[in-house]
Amino acid sequence: MDLSEKIKAKDARIGVVGLGYVGLPLLLEFIETGFYCTGFDIDDKKIETIRKKETYIKHIPETRISPAVETGRLHVTTDFSELSAVDCIIVAVPTPLDKHQQPDLSYITNTSKTISKHIQKGQLVVLESSTYPGTTMEVMRPILEGSGLKYPDDFYLAFSPEREDPNNPTYTTKTIPKVVGANDSLSRKYATALYDQVIVKTVPVSSSQAAEATKLLENIFRSVNIALVNEMKMILDRMDIDVWEVIEAASTKPFGFMPFYPGPGLGGHCIPIDPFYLTYKAKEFDMPTRFIELAGEINTDMPYYVVQKTMDALNSREKSVKGSSVLILGAAYKKDIDDLRESPTLKLIEIFEDKGAHVDYSDPFIPVLPRVRKYDFDKKSVELTEKTLSSYDAVIISTAHSSFDYDFIVENSDLIIDTRNATKNIVKNREKIVKA
Ligand SMILES: NC(=O)c1ccc[n+]([C@@H]2O[C@H](COP(=O)([O-])OP(=O)(O)OC[C@H]3O[C@@H](n4cnc5c(N)ncnc54)[C@H](O)[C@@H]3O)[C@@H](O)[C@H]2O)c1
Repeated sequence: MDLSEKIKAKDARIGVVGLGYVGLPLLLEFIETGFYCTGFDIDDKKIETIRKKETYIKHIPETRISPAVETGRLHVTTDFSELSAVDCIIVAVPTPLDKHQQPDLSYITNTSKTISKHIQKGQLVVLESSTYPGTTMEVMRPILEGSGLKYPDDFYLAFSPEREDPNNPTYTTKTIPKVVGANDSLSRKYATALYDQVIVKTVPVSSSQAAEATKLLENIFRSVNIALVNEMKMILDRMDIDVWEVIEAASTKPFGFMPFYPGPGLGGHCIPIDPFYLTYKAKEFDMPTRFIELAGEINTDMPYYVVQKTMDALNSREKSVKGSSVLILGAAYKKDIDDLRESPTLKLIEIFEDKGAHVDYSDPFIPVLPRVRKYDFDKKSVELTEKTLSSYDAVIISTAHSSFDYDFIVENSDLIIDTRNATKNIVKNREKIVKA
């Protein structure tokens, strides 16, 4: 049977490699549509948690995992030899930067080596990890061909970028259109058929490189526009104009403007990282990426700006940052989620501590700061009480979780540095609030 017929009949078995923020929800989508799936990860803890029908991602409830395991539609394993028993292999492993801010493709190359040991004739492999144009064909393909099988005669290969927006109530994995690119017609046909089963709209493009570049354009678009409003924030602040009021007013224009919001810096696995993937690849073509790098510089500077505003506010209260105690609200990079990868809060902690402040944080979703790529802080989330809030010289709103009681926070703190306009509706005690 032709692979696309097998997929349409839901007889194809789907394997997802990397069961993180991208892989797990995608796997569940396939299962809930009627497929039998195998989830692969090198992390034993994740595999055990799923086997116990529990979850490790806040916005993916156990009520989705339990039926998948109980019906036998979801099988998870660390045994990659089981890759040989699936029809389609979707790869959603991390693509971070190394310590020199260069792409770290080791997760993709390691996974490709593992797949090459077990790949079977007729299988479709789709890469989902965000990366620079050329990764699928120049990095993954030769490793997979190390198996002895040749693309596109023996196996199929495509790239389809993920557009997951964790905890977005309007758009989920299923309802976000998905771009699919491949360099031969059969790979494109099979990959399109695969995603057509679970995603509202599949958008085929002519090559994996075009699909890879699409993802980078989307994220660089955000990075550049966020940098623009961050710059506006600093200019307007000097002029004593509130950038938030200006953005709200500009947003009433029904065409040609879309709002982006300033903040304490970029966070998450995508927007702070992906521009560097393009910059790296552009060098191979003697192309500078000035605009993109400028946006990166402005966004990278934002935590320093927040610290400067805090120091100025402490100064006007005849206090120095050295020896003061600072409480940072929110450790996640975005409100109402539990993901702190690249979170600007971590950078804020580092800068304040370097300047001699004592720093605590409070985040209802992150009780303890785990070890991450660049940081290993030994800190536990502080409970927000009258007593704790009033004991800090400055309270900084870095991530505006909905569950924070901003009236209570303002009432009981001496000084609030608000980087998210979370206190916009507070009427009393406004003299304590500094926007940054
Ligand atoms: N998180 C998002 O919102 C988001 C959105 C769009 C795109 N992306 C992209 O998707 C990719 C995955 O991101 P994520 O957020 O799901 O990452 P993640 O860290 O949450 O998950 C990755 C998983 O891959 C596993 N893994 C690592 N190496 C492996 C290997 N060799 N074999 C099998 N499993 C392995 C890890 O244990 C982890 O469970 C990245 O390229 C990211 O840029 C993420």
